[in-house]
Amino acid sequence: MAIGEELEVSEAQIAVHWREEEYIQPPPRFVGQANAHDPAILDRFREENFPECFREYADLLSWDRYWHTTLDSSEPPFWKWFVGGRLNACYNCVDRHLETRANQAALIWVPEPEGELTQTITYRELYRRVNEFAALLRDFCGLKAGDRITLHMPMVPELPVAMLACARLGVIHSEVFGGFSGAACGERIADSQSRFLVTIDGYYRNGDLVDHKVKADEAMARAASLGQEVDKVLVFRRHAGEYASATPMVEGRDVFVDDVIGEYRRAVVPPTSMPAEAPLFLMYTSGTTGRPKGAQHSTGGYLAYVAGTSKYYQDIHPDDTYWCMADIGWITGHSYIVYGPLALGTTTVLYEGVPTYPDPGRPWRIAERLGVTIFHTAPTSIRMLRKLGPDEPAKYDYRFKHMTTVGEPIEPDVWRWYHTSVGKGEAVIVDTWWQTETGGFLGSTLPGLQGMKPGSCGPAALGIYPVIFDEERKVVEPGSGKAGNICIRNPWPGIMQTIWGQPERFVEVYYRKYCNDLKSKDWHDWPYFAGDGALQAADGYFRILGRVDDVINVAGHRLGTKELESAAITVNEVAEAAAVPVIDAMRGKAVEMYISLKPGFKPSAELEAKVVKAIEVEIGKIARPTNVWIVSDMPKTRSGKIMRRVIAGISNFTDVGDITTLANPEVVEQIKHHVQSEKLSRGQLPRELSAQEEADIQAFGKAE
Ligand code: WT7
Repeated sequence: MAIGEELEVSEAQIAVHWREEEYIQPPPRFVGQANAHDPAILDRFREENFPECFREYADLLSWDRYWHTTLDSSEPPFWKWFVGGRLNACYNCVDRHLETRANQAALIWVPEPEGELTQTITYRELYRRVNEFAALLRDFCGLKAGDRITLHMPMVPELPVAMLACARLGVIHSEVFGGFSGAACGERIADSQSRFLVTIDGYYRNGDLVDHKVKADEAMARAASLGQEVDKVLVFRRHAGEYASATPMVEGRDVFVDDVIGEYRRAVVPPTSMPAEAPLFLMYTSGTTGRPKGAQHSTGGYLAYVAGTSKYYQDIHPDDTYWCMADIGWITGHSYIVYGPLALGTTTVLYEGVPTYPDPGRPWRIAERLGVTIFHTAPTSIRMLRKLGPDEPAKYDYRFKHMTTVGEPIEPDVWRWYHTSVGKGEAVIVDTWWQTETGGFLGSTLPGLQGMKPGSCGPAALGIYPVIFDEERKVVEPGSGKAGNICIRNPWPGIMQTIWGQPERFVEVYYRKYCNDLKSKDWHDWPYFAGDGALQAADGYFRILGRVDDVINVAGHRLGTKELESAAITVNEVAEAAAVPVIDAMRGKAVEMYISLKPGFKPSAELEAKVVKAIEVEIGKIARPTNVWIVSDMPKTRSGKIMRRVIAGISNFTDVGDITTLANPEVVEQIKHHVQSEKLSRGQLPRELSAQEEADIQAFGKAE
């Protein structure tokens, strides 16, 4: 297929040709115990029962006051769920389990060093720790409902304790992924106007005790430069009484939590009864502009949605030992390590380190020792574990009933290894498609009721009614073999409420493109635009291709091209920068940066290294580009827009498409020659892309 031809028809309609996989049915042993085993549930969530169907999710929670209106959609697209209801999220995740399972493990924390003891925290102890920390936040910091606080914490139990303590007070937490840089944290502190930061001196990663406190100082400097002063930095210590950081504590600002928490021993803080629509937390994510978006999630709708989907899609029962290997610093961890599993009163496992440390048998040793029954991870980890230790799972005596994959499309081949080797052919798999903005799953199979199809996430989740539109807003029919932009026609309880402080951007990014009438007060006119390309097979199963906007999904983490580019141009010599995705065997995608220099500067390896460093400082090591290409000029349209798709084609050794309309078509050949010969000499050999990968690269940037 020539890309040029397709462009003339419709940008979003990409004919994709691949074989649909056969269904694989869930094992009877799983079905017999599944939370969702009666097909009547599918009827209960049919569109004619919307929005009342979601009562069923809200009824999983304990309400201080029951709501009177399930959905108030009178001000689109600012939906309000369970209006009139009041509840406390911490009470729902902790207190209410004390009566029946105070001595059951709520959290099991596995430190990265294998010689260090695992910590088991019962619901009773979690209650104690959360109350003490809540008392500290209230009395030492003076925090109250509606205030924001930033957490910049790695995978230690103090992180969920801090989150739940905030929830207890109605304080809005904003956890920044620990791997993000100090500068990135500072930007988010300023955006959320936080006056407090919670951090830790250090943590283990790949065998090293990483200095983390240093990032707090960088964060303070960046926040201050943006006009945000922070009163206190609360510093946990990874090893009691020892300080793992080289940076001094700042007098009057920095406080060791273990120095002050003693004053709050045995404190009991009553949970603050919050309106269902009160914000519970912010989770920053990348978009098409440099400024990160603080996705604002609600208390009642969000908690109901993650509890419901944890029950039916994760099949969590209270006596399961559930291990999601994601990081709590991302939405997956918020919804499916902390809030969903704890709302259901199960045991949730937290692992501090990297899955392959000290060897690729580590996850399976943890699973064996703890008796993990449900396992949840991302394709990038599965690929890595398969590459480094394909035969490791067989060596360990664990038995998963259920496994999840999340964050990026999974290749059918990788899926099969997950199924046969990790799952030992006995575990059911759910491939869950969703986003930071959506709070919980949008597309997945109901594990006891719907067959699995490798490479497809499955049909829409309960109560979710999607549609695929082309660029002309025409519906792309299921089974047509065409891809388009996937949208959700209806509101659902887990959807973000707004972008913190940027309501216009919320409308602009997620609704304007497919809204029928911006004045309409009818939710039917307001489909949610997810920003993903997808196609639907005749059986209703969706296959997600990837982002159609300027977002690059690296190892299941979203990076905005504008953020990467803004970081690169902090280097004095750089005039222009463009970030593009390259297909990567392990991480799904990696980033390549193209830069052009200001007059008078010459390309050099030092300059390339400077660009890499700038990206690490501004965003974090996760965003480090594989290659930095210094080019004489970027391919541009006549209006001066950089054609990222052309350079993405070059970097991926695939078609660059029609370049006849460029202002400077001659640079394309030059860049191609330079980049591709250099890649070959660096041993970065091209391989043939699968149909899905090809479509993904072609979709990149289409909905700009
Ligand atoms: C983007 C959202 C979902 C929580 C973790 C990532 C991609 C997510 C899948 C999947 C194919 C997927 C989409 C989406 N994505 N899950 N199962 N199959 N693609 O959250 O950082 O907000 O990223 O990840 O492109 O838009 P996020």
